[in-house]
Amino acid sequence: MSNFNLYSKYYDLLYRDKDYESESAYVVKTLKTYLPNLSSLLELGCGSGSHAKYFADQGLMVTGIERSEEMVEQAIAKEIKNFEIVTADISAFSLNKKFDAIISLFHVISYLTSNDQLIATFKNAYDHLEENGLFLFDIWYSPAVYTQKALPRIKKIRNNEFEVTRFANSLSEANTNTVIVNFDIFIRNLQDSTINELTEAHPMRHFSFPEIELLAAHTGFKVIKSEEFLTGSAASENTWGVCFVLQKI
Ligand SMILES: C[S@@+](CC[C@H](N)C(=O)[O-])C[C@H]1O[C@@H](n2cnc3c(N)ncnc32)[C@H](O)[C@@H]1O
Repeated sequence: MSNFNLYSKYYDLLYRDKDYESESAYVVKTLKTYLPNLSSLLELGCGSGSHAKYFADQGLMVTGIERSEEMVEQAIAKEIKNFEIVTADISAFSLNKKFDAIISLFHVISYLTSNDQLIATFKNAYDHLEENGLFLFDIWYSPAVYTQKALPRIKKIRNNEFEVTRFANSLSEANTNTVIVNFDIFIRNLQDSTINELTEAHPMRHFSFPEIELLAAHTGFKVIKSEEFLTGSAASENTWGVCFVLQKI
């Protein structure tokens, strides 16, 4: 199981080019379509806080839940105002607070591979939402995973200190709707040229539309929107990351 502890130190470097600002703007715009007075957000699996920073900059009060202590440390180091973070598992946390909306970004929900974990997380989201509150998340979409397949990938990126090379090789497990993404990461220290190797396996579950609809209905939600994350295009077999918006009923 992946815990993100090993490579959290290199996480922001690996995703340096990810457009967190546009993604955050898309999320806020989508939520405000239904909740114009949106003011509080709970982010499940907030990682190193890169989205949270933009949400807080827009005047929202943000709480993050993250189970990797190293990720939590990275988020705290960003000194984000109007942001608090709790180290916990998103399927088993309890805050004495309710929120206008709950979000979970960059496929965090796909890290929940069992039905029990998914149901517990959705029920937890329900319990922490105000009446008519929204739950927005993006997931890997089964039609695209089956059509496009998770192909081997290499990513190389460097800063002044390190050069990080990450190889990703994936194994599809058809009977559990999961893909095991095996990361092999080489970190070269540019000062002394020493190389460290890390390996992590990330089991990722993918979902069909009816599966999310069923999960939503089972936990007290209805699906009010689904589309390609960020572009807003209709989901299809070409859409790897699909964004769902659920409303508490
Ligand atoms: C791909 S990262 C995304 C982080 C962040 N949302 C972002 O967009 O950069 C997935 C994150 O989800 C966290 N995560 C996965 N499963 C979790 C769980 N059950 N409880 C809490 N955090 C979890 C991991 O530790 C990791 O930080």
